[in-house]
Amino acid sequence: MIKAVAILGGTGFVGRHLANRLTKTRYRLRVLTRRRERHRDLLVIPTLDLVEADVHDSAVLQHELRGCDAVINLIGILNERGDDGSGFREAHVELCRKLIAACRANDIPRLLHMSALNADASGPSHYQRTKGEAEDLVHAAAGEDFRVTSFRPSVIFGPDDDFFNRFARLLRFTPVVFPLGCPKARFAPVYVGDVVEAMALSLTDPATYGRRYDLCGPKAYTLAELVAYTAQCLKLRRYVLPLSARLSLLQAQVLEHVPGKPLSLDNYRSLQIDSVCGGENGLLSLGITPTAVESVVPGYLAERGQRGLYRKLRALARRH
Ligand SMILES: NC(=O)c1ccc[n+]([C@@H]2O[C@H](COP(=O)([O-])OP(=O)(O)OC[C@H]3O[C@@H](n4cnc5c(N)ncnc54)[C@H](OP(=O)(O)O)[C@@H]3O)[C@@H](O)[C@H]2O)c1
Repeated sequence: MIKAVAILGGTGFVGRHLANRLTKTRYRLRVLTRRRERHRDLLVIPTLDLVEADVHDSAVLQHELRGCDAVINLIGILNERGDDGSGFREAHVELCRKLIAACRANDIPRLLHMSALNADASGPSHYQRTKGEAEDLVHAAAGEDFRVTSFRPSVIFGPDDDFFNRFARLLRFTPVVFPLGCPKARFAPVYVGDVVEAMALSLTDPATYGRRYDLCGPKAYTLAELVAYTAQCLKLRRYVLPLSARLSLLQAQVLEHVPGKPLSLDNYRSLQIDSVCGGENGLLSLGITPTAVESVVPGYLAERGQRGLYRKLRALARRH
């Protein structure tokens, strides 16, 4: 029986939603973080222990997972320093290797692993290749005494996401014309509440052992459509200028060197493959009805806009 669940990457966007979802269960949660101080707000969850740990240190990882009955791995990065793949390899593949060893050493029988749609050991980007290798690694390690399920979502949306909120920020700061690279890339955005529901249901369901679930929202859109929709929700008049393939690459080559890498070369390579479910949508197999973008996104984008206005008014008031 599962009593204690460790979450790696539990302080991030998906992790916080998952931790909240799992508070509805009887599990004791153990969230490992590199910087405990940054996430002290999570301490209000009474069934959650927030533990500072260097998860890349095998001995530390093994020690911190002691006594857990299941592990959920949410660690993932979208960008690395440089562009040689070593950062992706460390965060995705090497970490998984250490995690499998730590699970084995502690006789932990259950692992949920967060991968990504299009994760593929022979994919075009470092992100997709290392995500694919990591996914293959955890499934290759699975057996009777170590059950593994992985999840392969398209882009995930929800309050505090890094997709609609990022485009909202960029649109606000870009007057009139918004030049967009890879405008034809397609996504089937999936709601974070549905993703964490899929994970929570899978944790104890033997039917999910060994499965790799593609997770998609109910509808696919081009990137250009999603950016135009973001502008519409924010009531901003912007002309989304679709860049050609050559100009998209040029934009990525330039933005690769901008702090925060708004569009890296590796992102550009990932965007060459549509992020949509070609086959079965795992949400439906798990009995979850996918939530539509239109029913959630306008609410939180508007709320953000109002908070931005409130901050501006407060700043103005302080000047007088
Ligand atoms: N968001 C999406 O649209 C999306 C789509 C497909 C797949 N995914 C996958 O879903 C997972 C969760 O995504 P998310 O959006 O919640 O990510 P996130 O908000 O960036 O959170 C990831 C967490 O992982 C930890 N982390 C990040 N880099 C690390 C590193 N180099 N070494 C160790 N720990 C590190 C961080 O925790 P600490 O700083 O506290 O240590 C962070 O809170 C990832 O595996 C991601 O690839 C996400």
